[in-house]
Amino acid sequence: MRITGTGHASMRIDTAAGSILCDPWVNPAYFASWFPFPDNSQLDWETLGDVDYLYVSHLHRDHFDAEHLKRFINKKATVLLPEYPTSQLEDELRALGFSSFLRTKSDQVHELDGGLKVMIQALISPTDGPIGDSSLWVEYDGIRVLNQNDARPSDLSRFNELGHVHAHMLQFSGAIWYPMVYELPENAKTAFGKQKRERQFDRTWRYIDDLKADFVFPIAGPPCFLDDELWQFNDIHGDEGNIFPDQSVFLTEYAKVGGTNAVVQLPGSVTELSEGGTKQTTTHPMPVDEFFANKTAHLEEMRERKRPIIEAEKASWRHPEIDVLGELKKRIEPLLEESIYLAKGVGGPVRFDLVSYDGDEIESIVVDFPGKQVRPYADEKVRYRFKTQRELIEHLIFIDEGDWVNSLFLSCRFSAARIGQYNEFVYAFFKCLSEERLQYAEGWYDEHEKAVDAEDTQFGDWTVQRRCPHLKADLSRFGVVEGNVLTCQLHGWKFDLPSGRCLTSVGHKIRASKTS
Ligand code: FES
Repeated sequence: MRITGTGHASMRIDTAAGSILCDPWVNPAYFASWFPFPDNSQLDWETLGDVDYLYVSHLHRDHFDAEHLKRFINKKATVLLPEYPTSQLEDELRALGFSSFLRTKSDQVHELDGGLKVMIQALISPTDGPIGDSSLWVEYDGIRVLNQNDARPSDLSRFNELGHVHAHMLQFSGAIWYPMVYELPENAKTAFGKQKRERQFDRTWRYIDDLKADFVFPIAGPPCFLDDELWQFNDIHGDEGNIFPDQSVFLTEYAKVGGTNAVVQLPGSVTELSEGGTKQTTTHPMPVDEFFANKTAHLEEMRERKRPIIEAEKASWRHPEIDVLGELKKRIEPLLEESIYLAKGVGGPVRFDLVSYDGDEIESIVVDFPGKQVRPYADEKVRYRFKTQRELIEHLIFIDEGDWVNSLFLSCRFSAARIGQYNEFVYAFFKCLSEERLQYAEGWYDEHEKAVDAEDTQFGDWTVQRRCPHLKADLSRFGVVEGNVLTCQLHGWKFDLPSGRCLTSVGHKIRASKTS
């Protein structure tokens, strides 16, 4: 089996029974904020795109690159489709010209021609990806690989059941706007960033330990930020609170916990897995150490080369003819009306400060969740405040964007302030700005709330419900108790055991009692 690194979370898997291209991403994503790092735009995509199967793990724009799929990927390829609750991924791929789909069943092995086997595990909570994220397991001739990409299953037991995995590809770096965009003192931001960076690595070690594959491939990030306005987010400034460590940092940190089996691929690196998957040889387009030693120079060169692309994108965002307040009212108020769980979860007004083109004026608009209205800000206390360029919101309205997480928030082109804890419902709502998505999310929370999880687990004297109130991780594996605080290491949420209160987010009480 041959694995070719094609950048970020993308790879091509070649076997004698067929080839699979995963998540090819080349064009900038999220308002031209994210670019693949290292640069993969100069690979021979005509050849790489001539494949038998295409796997797009989910609709995040650093995994689903419509322009690239349209131009370079063979439309005769059969799409291996995750089992998602909405048809959006299939619809978007059909619109690009793909017509052959294998609709997989989550957690079921599918046997393709020539003895190639695949299984896709689909995660479908409203907080997974843009409603859905997935992992791809492949077996050929006794060699098994798991491309977990950036999915976060509560455990990897389903993959373990299918036999020892030889190569495990997984995320290790950040892919979020927290804490950089928060209006916090620099030292607090650094402290939160450091915590976040450690948590990302802890989670990665846990998954690696769960699967115990022969080889570990750090993938799915970090992206790079080439616009001057975002340049500070690249991990080249010696900031220990930067949440975007690269593969060379991964190697250092992994070595500290005893890891010796990592395989770092650059775009164009080729790994041959042989001897039943227990041996690997990798060739690189240039020495990996040398590449990362010159990271800043690579980024600077890329920044100059990509500048015209960023400028062209920026020029397309302004639509001064749009009445932003009026349009938001029209689009969001019907959704507020229908929303029960999400609106209750947000529980207060959320304010958007829109900065005019010249930066002189600010228009403040409030999405009032309890009042089910979109209206001008009325000098009230708000739960969250976001500040961004007016033109970004104009563009979202212009393209009728139904997912502001997969566009505005991941762009990091905003700042934020909040009172109190993180509130996942705010982001869940703004990724569901369509009838179909909102209904799905409401239904999911409804079922989730009603599901009574009777099973318990033990931490010393504490008897605690076994499944995490956040996304049901098995706390007997992911839970760590220090003093009276339980931390679930899947996403790092903390719970105060005596009161059951979640210390990380609103709601999400845990059931816990102390044995006397
Ligand atoms: S499942 Fe997310 S913190 Fe536990």
